[in-house]
Amino acid sequence: MPMETVSTIAAVRERVRRWRAEGRRIAFVPTMGNLHLGHVSLIETARRHGDRFVASIFVNPMQFGPNEDFAHYPRTPAQDARMLTEAGCDLMFMPDVAEIYPNGSDRATRIEVPGLSSVLCGEFRPGHFEGVATVVAKLFHIVEPDAAVFGEKDFQQLTLIRRMVVDLCMPVTVIAAPTVREPDGLAMSSRNQYLTEEERRKAPIIHQTLLAAVERLRAGERAFAEIEREGTEALEGAGLRPDYFAVRRADDLSDPEDGTKHLVVLTAARLGRARLIDNLQLRT
Ligand code: PAJ
Repeated sequence: MPMETVSTIAAVRERVRRWRAEGRRIAFVPTMGNLHLGHVSLIETARRHGDRFVASIFVNPMQFGPNEDFAHYPRTPAQDARMLTEAGCDLMFMPDVAEIYPNGSDRATRIEVPGLSSVLCGEFRPGHFEGVATVVAKLFHIVEPDAAVFGEKDFQQLTLIRRMVVDLCMPVTVIAAPTVREPDGLAMSSRNQYLTEEERRKAPIIHQTLLAAVERLRAGERAFAEIEREGTEALEGAGLRPDYFAVRRADDLSDPEDGTKHLVVLTAARLGRARLIDNLQLRT
């Protein structure tokens, strides 16, 4: 069955209702397009959780700040369609802004996830996670998937979506997919394209610094503040401008205690024009 591309909510609902009437399970992968192997891996994960696959491609204005890269975010719809077809996707939903925000994205109803939308990246990107939660809630209402797959690369986003789904009683199973990396450890991201050659050579320091922090935690060290400070300094020393380097509880991103079993080390750092994020989890 060839992949279909649709741009209206009505067309998605019509396809999905037909599948559901046939007893199919629907798995959904929301994206902003400009797909790379990280996104493709989400479709592969989705294949284990459904029998019809929907991907959305929508660069969501609500999650970009006024000085961020909404206008310049890479848009490659033809290449995306090829990659989704190859990955076995059944339906690609590519709406325009007016389809998703008929009253404008500035005035639309918004979802705030207290405690999770304002910390870490939320502190540096005010309004970003309200935009993410809002668009994902809308996409869930449109697609009504049984399962939806999110990458661990955006760990705070994944945590926030999980919380929203519980808080708003959404009948969706949220599946996490592991971070896909370049051979040198850099997490794949559409924003890596913003790096110059020299910056690209420096970028793997992010993954290396996270690995070093995880090693110390694995060895039993629990001086979290010191690990955070040294991580920040290592990134600065390599010429990056970190927003934060933080050790948190993996379940709710709150501050960890000495006995916390599931930790996550998260960082966001600016390098040239790019703001890169990454994280590593650790279970003890
Ligand atoms: P986008 O950045 O396009 O990412 C779409 C999905 O791909 C997210 O779940 C993200 O975590 C995952 N992803 C990106 N890079 C990855 C990598 N290297 N390895 C594994 N997964 C990766 O995240 C968004 O779009 C948006 O915020 C969205 C959820 C679509 C809402 O607009």
